[in-house]
Amino acid sequence: MNLLSLTTLLAMAVPPESCDPAFRAEPQTHAFDYAAQIQPIWNQYCADCHVQHGGNPAMGLDLEPPFSRDNLVLVPSAQDPTVALVWPGQPAISLLWHKLNCGSPGPLPGGHQMPFGRPPLPLALQALVYDWISAGAPVEVLMRDGFDERQ
Ligand code: HEC
Repeated sequence: MNLLSLTTLLAMAVPPESCDPAFRAEPQTHAFDYAAQIQPIWNQYCADCHVQHGGNPAMGLDLEPPFSRDNLVLVPSAQDPTVALVWPGQPAISLLWHKLNCGSPGPLPGGHQMPFGRPPLPLALQALVYDWISAGAPVEVLMRDGFDERQ
């Protein structure tokens, strides 16, 4: 299994100049509910290309519920199997993050920012996805008595 080789790690840890650091000024949260917060982003901005029904999803990536998370987390890119779409806890080396935040994201030269051919996601939604990956890409994190409960 050569997912995430050292070369890939080094290459991805330095964000391309085309990325937009302004998302960091947006609000953050530590309590996540994937179905309620992240899936609606895919439904609104990605579903017309990344769906299974009615044809083949773009790049084979199906972002419909209930399998979208399984199709992202620790899944190698169809374009370069050494790159993970989502590496839990590590947005900087997750291709999904680069695809949302950077003008020329890769993994191959000429790769496109998502949503393909449209304006980038609003920064607040980019920040939400960033924080979700940073939190370990959980199904759900409930804040209870100050402790995280991950599922
Ligand atoms: C108009 C169609 C379209 C829309 C809308 C779209 N995509 Fe894509 N997506 C593509 C195409 C075409 C590719 C392959 C080309 C590329 O990667 O630049 C792709 C590739 C990807 C990849 C890389 C997959 C891999 O295995 O390498 C990811 C991740 C991705 N899209 C996520 C998203 C997300 C998240 C959204 C919504 C925010 C989105 N896309 C919206 C067409 C689309």
